[in-house]
Amino acid sequence: MLDSYLLTNTREPNGMSIAPWSDEYCTDHHVIDTQHQTLFELVNRIHDAIIAGESHCSAVRAMLADFEVLAQEHFELEEELMRTYQYPNYEVHFGMHRRLCRKVRSALEKYDRDTDAFSHDVPQVLADWMIHHIRGEDRQTIAFLQSRIKAPATTLKA
Ligand SMILES: [Fe+2]
Ligand SMILES: [Fe+2]
Repeated sequence: MLDSYLLTNTREPNGMSIAPWSDEYCTDHHVIDTQHQTLFELVNRIHDAIIAGESHCSAVRAMLADFEVLAQEHFELEEELMRTYQYPNYEVHFGMHRRLCRKVRSALEKYDRDTDAFSHDVPQVLADWMIHHIRGEDRQTIAFLQSRIKAPATTLKA
């Protein structure tokens, strides 16, 4: 689902993206970078809809639900790679993912209880989290994984 999301969901750029993609977010892992870009795009779409006064619209809830699914799919890939290559800070990184998942779930539950209670800050919160997480933990983790992937097989079994 994650890889095909952009292909089936095109958005007219409006020059006001809340989370514009930047090369400084690249990890040099193609699949992970593509997934990050898709998540950025989705946050921008949620933001655009709220700015357009559509925060009560079911499309906003649907996009946030998509974000939950896509983020979970993305986190599972990172977590699988971390386990495979025995990343030493796995628990810390895993915990960050779980906290973001709880934030998204909480936003969805608030929306379902009362659309008026839905915070318009949600896209900003998600954008801030992703930028901080990708520039910090993800880049550090992927650099470690790349070094393990390039290492001789004997090192990987150590
Ligand atoms: Fe991560
Ligand atoms: Fe990530």
